[in-house]
Amino acid sequence: MAERAILNTDIRKGTINRNIYGHFSEHLGRCIYEGIWVGEDSTIPNTNGIRNDVVKALKEIKIPVLRWPGGCFADEYHWKDGIGAREGRKRMINTHWGGTVENNHFGTHEFMELCEMLECEPYINGNVGSGTVQEMSEWVEYLTFGGVSPMSELRQQNGHQEPWAVTYFGVGNENWGCGGNMRPEYYADLYRQYQTYVRNYGDNRIHRIACGPNVDDYHWMEVLMREATRFMDSITLHYYTIPGPAWENKGAATGFETSEWFSTLEKALRMDELITRHGVIMDKYDPDKRVGLIVDEWGTWYDVEPGTNPGFLYQQNSIRDALVAGVTLNIFHKHSDRVRMANIAQTINVLQAVILTEGEKMVLTPTYHVFNMFKVHQDAELLDLALESGTYSFEGREIPEVSASASVTASGIIHVSLCNLNHAASAAVPLELRGLSGKKVEVTGTTLAGDKIDAHNTFSQPEAVVPQAFTAFTLEGDLLNVELPPMSVTVLEIMPK
Ligand code: AHR
Repeated sequence: MAERAILNTDIRKGTINRNIYGHFSEHLGRCIYEGIWVGEDSTIPNTNGIRNDVVKALKEIKIPVLRWPGGCFADEYHWKDGIGAREGRKRMINTHWGGTVENNHFGTHEFMELCEMLECEPYINGNVGSGTVQEMSEWVEYLTFGGVSPMSELRQQNGHQEPWAVTYFGVGNENWGCGGNMRPEYYADLYRQYQTYVRNYGDNRIHRIACGPNVDDYHWMEVLMREATRFMDSITLHYYTIPGPAWENKGAATGFETSEWFSTLEKALRMDELITRHGVIMDKYDPDKRVGLIVDEWGTWYDVEPGTNPGFLYQQNSIRDALVAGVTLNIFHKHSDRVRMANIAQTINVLQAVILTEGEKMVLTPTYHVFNMFKVHQDAELLDLALESGTYSFEGREIPEVSASASVTASGIIHVSLCNLNHAASAAVPLELRGLSGKKVEVTGTTLAGDKIDAHNTFSQPEAVVPQAFTAFTLEGDLLNVELPPMSVTVLEIMPK
């Protein structure tokens, strides 16, 4: 079946929050240590211990917000272990992730400095599972209180005179699982208690984030919204795309079959249903949509690379991941009235990473390139785009062949992002441009495509999958005929003249 699309350039549907392009960095494997933090004495070029190459690459994609320190690690992290002179910091076992020794060299000050370097907002996730109300309350005081108090003085003794500005604060992570195996009724009460002591000091205003459901746990969402809506600003959702049938058999990041290509995209598309159905529950308790849905963990999760520590979750990243990223970001755009933030898991060397490192070497993944191409949508106005997609069939199963979304910037430039999920065939999309009031337009484009289903970048071939100029379109009056290559992600720029 052929595709057909109508873009109403004059119908705006709200702002795409830039935080949808957020990231997540946990003390897990080589994400923080090596990926970000190498220490001041490292031969890898760094500023105060933080890698220069990684900071430069993340600034390029305009990373808007960074979540830290976990993940499961958040609920066993005791922030006071990560302040003060580094050599004196307590060592601990990272029981969740590989049983490694965590030396706490990357702590609150280092994270806040990283966010300053990246010019992004910090999103700090507090400990409910094994931490106290006092510990969480004092962390917020340490971070944000400017007056005379024990925590403010401690921060000053540790070299930071002024308080930091911190908006996003998570009260626990996955408290239905690694964060304490709680029932929703119990967590809802704990949430109400803990968040009471997450104070607003001075002008700092905290956006309180409750731990939401895993995947399709609608009961968790129902209970949290019923019991705690008025105490939260946002609630989270976690959903990972796992191609295989079971945790023990998730599938490989490269060298996979066409059936896994298809099932990966089929499962990635499920994000739409999850947001829609959780959104219905949220609407019941919060019809004005005051509370945001934050998808603060999403992305692909495969079997680890052979020979690597199973607890480090290190995986390659291919054009398939680029498609998952493109499709998911398009879904977030569509739901931007409710989805106010999302954080791909995880920034470097873990799961669907945008950057991989090996010692001093760094490679940008296909997912990185999608974030770079799509950054034009950050804080732009979502446009009405009616897409009748053709179908992409595999062994009797069907999914839409094309995923798309469009936005317009404050200066009037329109961007349309289009993914062709089909691994074998190109997709012709006749895109009708309406509402231009007779204005002529100039169109340019960029595309990311692969020559095989697992095309990817390596340290020896870092540019196997990189964006290229896209010219496979013709403009006839208001009809833009686009020919999307197989397994590709494309962004068109439409400039009214
Ligand atoms: O991202 C890896 C882990 O996945 C996180 O620590 C946890 O929150 C989730 O289960």
